[in-house]
Amino acid sequence: MEDILKVENLKTDFIDGNQIVHAVNDVSFAIREGETFGLIGESGCGKSATCRSIIGLLKENGRISGGKVIYKGKDISKMRFREMQKIRGHEIGMVFQEPMTTLNPVVKIGVQLTESLPEKMSKEDKRKRAIELLKMVGISDAQQRLQAYPHQLSGGMRQRVMIAIALAAGPKLLLADEPTTALDVTIQDQVLKLLMKLKQELGMSMILVTHDLGVAAQTCDHIAVMYAGQIVEEASVHEIFKRPRNPYTYGLMCSLPVKHRKDEKLVPIDGMPPNLKALPKGCAFAPRCRYCEKICLETTPELQEIGPGHKTRCHQWEKLKDVHGMVEGAI
Ligand SMILES: Nc1ncnc2c1ncn2[C@@H]1O[C@H](COP(=O)(O)OP(=O)(O)O)[C@@H](O)[C@H]1O
Ligand SMILES: [Mg+2]
Repeated sequence: MEDILKVENLKTDFIDGNQIVHAVNDVSFAIREGETFGLIGESGCGKSATCRSIIGLLKENGRISGGKVIYKGKDISKMRFREMQKIRGHEIGMVFQEPMTTLNPVVKIGVQLTESLPEKMSKEDKRKRAIELLKMVGISDAQQRLQAYPHQLSGGMRQRVMIAIALAAGPKLLLADEPTTALDVTIQDQVLKLLMKLKQELGMSMILVTHDLGVAAQTCDHIAVMYAGQIVEEASVHEIFKRPRNPYTYGLMCSLPVKHRKDEKLVPIDGMPPNLKALPKGCAFAPRCRYCEKICLETTPELQEIGPGHKTRCHQWEKLKDVHGMVEGAI
């Protein structure tokens, strides 16, 4: 399978007052055509900054300071705004976490949908396509809904509209950044199933950002775990959940409800991710790690391949050799 997207040594910084936040710090990964690639990790570890860098939608105080984003063989990281606009939506679509902040509150759903359709379409064709799109994302009485304002819809409906907008121009790659996090649990499940069904039907590739390992286990083909702006483990979903080889990944698994695990104890990871303005020497996870040794506090570990397609960034990974992650049924 071809790689549809390659991120190479990506670095993204934010300027915060007179300090620099190294939000994405030398991140590389590749996404194969048709695959769902999970980007997981706690809040603040650089998942959104990675996605926004890919699609050129960083906040004003953010910038890509290094690396490449190669889409279908072409580096899109240095493209001008107008060039990037052609890629955005048409080639790469994006669904954000909070639809209320991305939908315009004073513009009717129908108008917002048609705005993302090709300009050359006639008004009537746009209307028909908008109705089709709403039906596709499971919105009944689509025709009436075109006249609705965002606040007249439930959270789940709004997120369905966002998905319809993201898919309007038929992107080949969808970036879904915590697309269900803001929704009620039952609705989360519906929206996620819808996304996966559409991905399949439309033959898209997808990056799914989530802090929910259970969701990742059920939907992704490949997983990269991020911590403090870096990838700390990467493997196929099966491999990473059966044989986690990074204490951080294992820690995330241990904070999941027991139905997914062999190990019965529910142990959240103590402490917080580090301050990205002033990273400690050595491994960024060391202060929270139960396997930490002297070397971990002194030398930053490299991301190394420890098995076929399995990478980890940890001096102590061999100590996890006897660890078995999530139970078969969860994957
Ligand atoms: N616009 C911004 N200005 C300053 N810092 C930011 C900005 N956006 C994100 N950050 C910081 O960058 C880091 C990564 O953020 P983010 O990519 O949003 O994490 P995640 O999506 O994994 O929760 C965090 O430390 C966050 O505080
Ligand atoms: Mg985020």
